[in-house]
Amino acid sequence: MIEYRTLSIALLGAGSVGGQVARLLLQHGDELEARTGARLELRGIAVRDLDAPRADGIPRELLTTNARDLILGADIVIELMGGIEPAREYLLLALGSGADVITGNKALLATHGPELFDLAEQVGAQLYYEAAVGGAIPIIRPLRDSLAGDRVKRILGIVNGTTNFILDRMETAGDDFGTALATATALGYAEADPTGDVEGHDAAQKAAILASLAFHTRVPVEAVHREGITRLTAAEVEGARKAGYVVKLLAICERLADPDTGQEGVSARVYPALVPREHPLGAVRGANNAVFVEAEAAGSLMFYGAGAGGVETASAVLGDLVSAARRHVAGGPGVAESVSADLPVLDISRVTTQYRVTLAVEDRPGVLATIAAIFSEHGVSVETVEQTVAAPTVEGTATLVIGTHTATEAALSATVAALNGLEAVVAVQSVLRIEGE
Ligand code: NDP
Ligand code: HSE
Repeated sequence: MIEYRTLSIALLGAGSVGGQVARLLLQHGDELEARTGARLELRGIAVRDLDAPRADGIPRELLTTNARDLILGADIVIELMGGIEPAREYLLLALGSGADVITGNKALLATHGPELFDLAEQVGAQLYYEAAVGGAIPIIRPLRDSLAGDRVKRILGIVNGTTNFILDRMETAGDDFGTALATATALGYAEADPTGDVEGHDAAQKAAILASLAFHTRVPVEAVHREGITRLTAAEVEGARKAGYVVKLLAICERLADPDTGQEGVSARVYPALVPREHPLGAVRGANNAVFVEAEAAGSLMFYGAGAGGVETASAVLGDLVSAARRHVAGGPGVAESVSADLPVLDISRVTTQYRVTLAVEDRPGVLATIAAIFSEHGVSVETVEQTVAAPTVEGTATLVIGTHTATEAALSATVAALNGLEAVVAVQSVLRIEGE
């Protein structure tokens, strides 16, 4: 009989994800042992409330409220508590003691990632975080390892299931934002306080993580331009649908040249955007996630699946656990954080994309020419113009929808400001970016 060495595992958190990790780890211990060459011994599970209900199959005697004692002496620490503190303190303690760390905590990584990576490197420990982006979807390891020899050009990610569910409802049921959010809450997709999801904070944290990995550059979450979906109207979603687009909250990470200096930089941004219906991301419905990666040599790749859920996310955590255990068995330094490119993170004003601008205008001769002149003066080239007079919202006005060729955000903002100053423009009703064309 093979004698395996024993690795001591400390689990912090036994909620939606942690509870499933514990259950699967205990249930499939023999298989994991055979795959890793080590006996994975769950030495304890830190929680806040020892008496709270737990997932089936979790022995009560493993629960403790003393996380610090549990961490010290573990070979691998799995953090599934969430939040910044005390998660940060515990992970620094774990890394400082030489343990490898596995976490699904995107909020912590996006705000304190450098501190954790630096300490891991100093002590020769590893930090794994497959569960932090896209739940069950393997995307961290593909970016870190499989595509490490390629040059990633752009990532378009639907990385927040709650907002994708809401946008899907707005499109398919014609709901306004509030009604769709109420449905998401009733079905358990949205949290009691949905701010982090609907205002794009969760997606921005994931964009910071993806951009850092893809471009070998530290991208702090504060550098991610963020717009949520709360101001999106049912009319905008319906207008997009009629024009052949779906509205998606996208996390966009892009390698681009500064339009003024030509210097290479990166952009990380989150906003609701129009995606052509036939684009692979256009087919991502409900609360699912997908990450569309465009790389120089590999071309286009799509990673799709469950972006959340206890047992689904536990799959990603256990994958990390197997990697960590194998490294312990084989020895060696593991993979360090790659920040060699150190590219500047460009401001949103430097980004170029296409736009769809909806205007309520006075319906009289010369107005179209005046508006076209404003676009031209700001260097924004018009691609399409649609005018609707059939159902004007105000007597004597028409709706103009102007699609543009690519232009910088700076040029588009200046155009919109000038349009707002025109007497003939009753209102700039909507400005949406078009991505993925
Ligand atoms: P839960 O809120 O369901 O569980 C959190 C767990 O951590 C609970 O068991 C809680 O204990 C414990 N905990 C919290 N604070 C402390 C503390 N100070 N000391 C000891 N234990 C503590 O969270 P989730 O399982 O949903 O999420 C965990 C992590 O995984 C988060 O970082 C989240 O962002 C990430 N993630 C979650 C996904 C999901 O679908 N849920 C998807 C992808 C990532 P107690 O039970 O006693 O209250
Ligand atoms: N709140 C997140 C979502 C959970 O809706 O996708 C996974 O990070």
